[in-house]
Amino acid sequence: MKMRGLHLLLLCLAASSQAAYAQTNTDPAMIPAPGPATQALVNQGKTQYDRTCAQCHGRNMVSSGTSSYDLRRFPTDAPDRFFNSVTHGKNNMPSFKDALEPGAIQWLWAYVSTRGGKEM
Ligand code: HEC
Repeated sequence: MKMRGLHLLLLCLAASSQAAYAQTNTDPAMIPAPGPATQALVNQGKTQYDRTCAQCHGRNMVSSGTSSYDLRRFPTDAPDRFFNSVTHGKNNMPSFKDALEPGAIQWLWAYVSTRGGKEM
């Protein structure tokens, strides 16, 4: 029962930071341009990927079915396309414009473009 208060507090914190975020990140320019991948960015990208992308694109980008795009085949020389598709969505791929914190697409790109850190 002691945990309950803590849970509520965490929920409130999450909700308020979410709201602050929605206000600050409506401008696509808030999303930083892709830079060189570092191991730290790849790790951050993996955590983010597991949380927000893996349910459709599969663990470690290994898709369980055929319905979602195979991210291991995404062209590594097309960061703009990646940023655009993740920001605005594409067909059944949802938009992540308001769901990710600033910088998150950069971490995700570091993860995807290095094939999970294998091609750095
Ligand atoms: C609800 C399921 C779903 C989730 C969650 C999801 N995707 Fe997708 N994604 C799709 C589908 C379906 C496609 C294929 C879209 C098409 O081309 O018709 C796709 C395609 C893509 C593409 C290729 C777009 C292109 O330019 O051809 C990229 C890149 C991508 N997803 C990245 C991500 C990333 C990164 C995340 C996590 C932030 C993510 N997706 C989360 C369903 C999803």
